[in-house]
Amino acid sequence: MIQSRRRFFREAGLLGLGFAGVVLAACGPAKPEVTATAVSVSSLTPAAPSASPTATPAAVRYDPDLHVLVDKQRVLPDGFTPPNVEVIPDAWEAGDASGQRLRADVIAAMQPMVKAAKADGVDLRVESAYRSYNEQVRTFAYWVSVLGEAQARRESAVPGHSEHQLGTTLDFADASNRWELVESFAGTPSGKWLAANAYKYGFAMSYPPGGEPITGYVYEPWHFRYIGVPAAEAWHASGKTLIEFLEALKARS
Ligand code: DAL
Ligand code: ZN
Repeated sequence: MIQSRRRFFREAGLLGLGFAGVVLAACGPAKPEVTATAVSVSSLTPAAPSASPTATPAAVRYDPDLHVLVDKQRVLPDGFTPPNVEVIPDAWEAGDASGQRLRADVIAAMQPMVKAAKADGVDLRVESAYRSYNEQVRTFAYWVSVLGEAQARRESAVPGHSEHQLGTTLDFADASNRWELVESFAGTPSGKWLAANAYKYGFAMSYPPGGEPITGYVYEPWHFRYIGVPAAEAWHASGKTLIEFLEALKARS
């Protein structure tokens, strides 16, 4: 039980390190030994029929508001803050989480998704959502202290490089997984439902299994970014990682 609680608090980023009173939402498995088995990117889940980039419908256009490229190589502009960030409904908070924020348009986009999941008997909950640059400073430092820098870089973004800073990105958690952000989330009711359905509501899984050579991050079945419904449907059909899809979308805009 103690171990379990410790692991929970470690996931929530609440242990020690002088961060008392600051909720540090982790975004990455806390168990370094649990990493994705390398597979070819063409077999990434969510499974999708293979399609070439040219199959992306012409109507899907690069939107600089929702499709900004941010990864290990590309940093957000200095002082970047998303517009219209609001607190999510209490009913969506996972475990001890509270006061989490997302862009208002993303909260609106989540409403039908949460409802549809509920109709399927799945209770979607949010473990971590918007993180400011300074919150990411503390989060990344925390993971470096826990995992060491090399492993932390595989699981947590350096400040200025996190999709969480966009206000459009969130981590889900499931009570059956003790709210933990570890790979077993993929097998929970929430993890399965999201992998199969999130794209229909505009959300893409950024860090799929086997994607690390491209994305730079281990498999994060809980981490989803809102890119709008047409783009998410095209992304899903493409079978590409999200960053590859957005790069291609931008290149042809
Ligand atoms: N865990 C992801 C990579 C982040 O920190 O944004
Ligand atoms: Zn995340």
